[in-house]
Amino acid sequence: MKLSNMRLEVMQTIEKSIDEFLVKYLKPIEENWQPSDLLPDSKEPGFFEEIEEIQALAKEMSYDLFAVLIGDTITEEVLPTYESWLMEIEGIDQENKNGWSKWVRAWTAEENRHGDLLNKYLYLSGRVNMREMEISTQHLLNDGFDIQTGRDPYRSFIYTSFQELATNISHRRVATLAKKTGNSRLGKICGIIAADESRHATAYKYFVTRIFEIDPSAIMLALEDMMKKKIVMPAHLLRESGGKIGELFTHFSDAAQRITVYTTQDYIDILKLLLKEWNIENIVGINDSAEEARDYLMALPKRLQRIVERIKIPKKQFEFKWIAA
Ligand SMILES: [Fe+2]
Ligand SMILES: [Fe+2]
Repeated sequence: MKLSNMRLEVMQTIEKSIDEFLVKYLKPIEENWQPSDLLPDSKEPGFFEEIEEIQALAKEMSYDLFAVLIGDTITEEVLPTYESWLMEIEGIDQENKNGWSKWVRAWTAEENRHGDLLNKYLYLSGRVNMREMEISTQHLLNDGFDIQTGRDPYRSFIYTSFQELATNISHRRVATLAKKTGNSRLGKICGIIAADESRHATAYKYFVTRIFEIDPSAIMLALEDMMKKKIVMPAHLLRESGGKIGELFTHFSDAAQRITVYTTQDYIDILKLLLKEWNIENIVGINDSAEEARDYLMALPKRLQRIVERIKIPKKQFEFKWIAA
């Protein structure tokens, strides 16, 4: 896809404020929480006791909840896929170290703590077949993803806005469910990650807001296009050992729906939130095709709502190789 010079100009315009965004939406590394802040310290004498507690509490969690937590962890662990995709976006230039590549690096540094922390927790939990989980992670890195944004910054920032909101919901709900079983450590872990996702969502939503101010017709069309294609989850090609590409994703997503950690209703709610956030209803100065795109977008939540009522989620749990008996 060859992009218009307009998109590059828009990226350059917004880029002028990158230093401000870094301060506003990301945190200085040495002040930021680190995975070790939330995990037992192996230098301390109480280490083994803490592990015993972690393992006892992990047993209290439902099978589906644990499966979703593992799937969420794998999704975080394939961060290299996300970084390499972001670096390829038109207007982001790592060779010349432009402002946007600075943003991507800083965002990646923050995000990298999520997979680190969750992976270490799962390793200590005593409930995970780590080898199987690692195989799934490696497959997913190897298989990549197809999120249909191309190298377009507009489509890509729409995608990241949506995704950061989706991961916020999912980590936040796991935190709540974990706390309900008395697992306050895991509640804290997922809660602190959810807070990062929310901060990141605010940034990407703002980038899109700025684009709407400068190039409203083109980004309206990009939003329509992304919603027509549907926003796929970053782990949509998930598989397990011996399985086919993408085969495991439905089971992961069904488990998330069963325990209402992330549902089709959430997808619709995110869409509604974004339509409101970007003030789609009241955008002025757009061309005829963008007007049509707006009509499509404004009617979309209701259309999806009718579909959601017909969706049936299988009640039966799927047996994941990730979870030790
Ligand atoms: Fe994350
Ligand atoms: Fe994120």
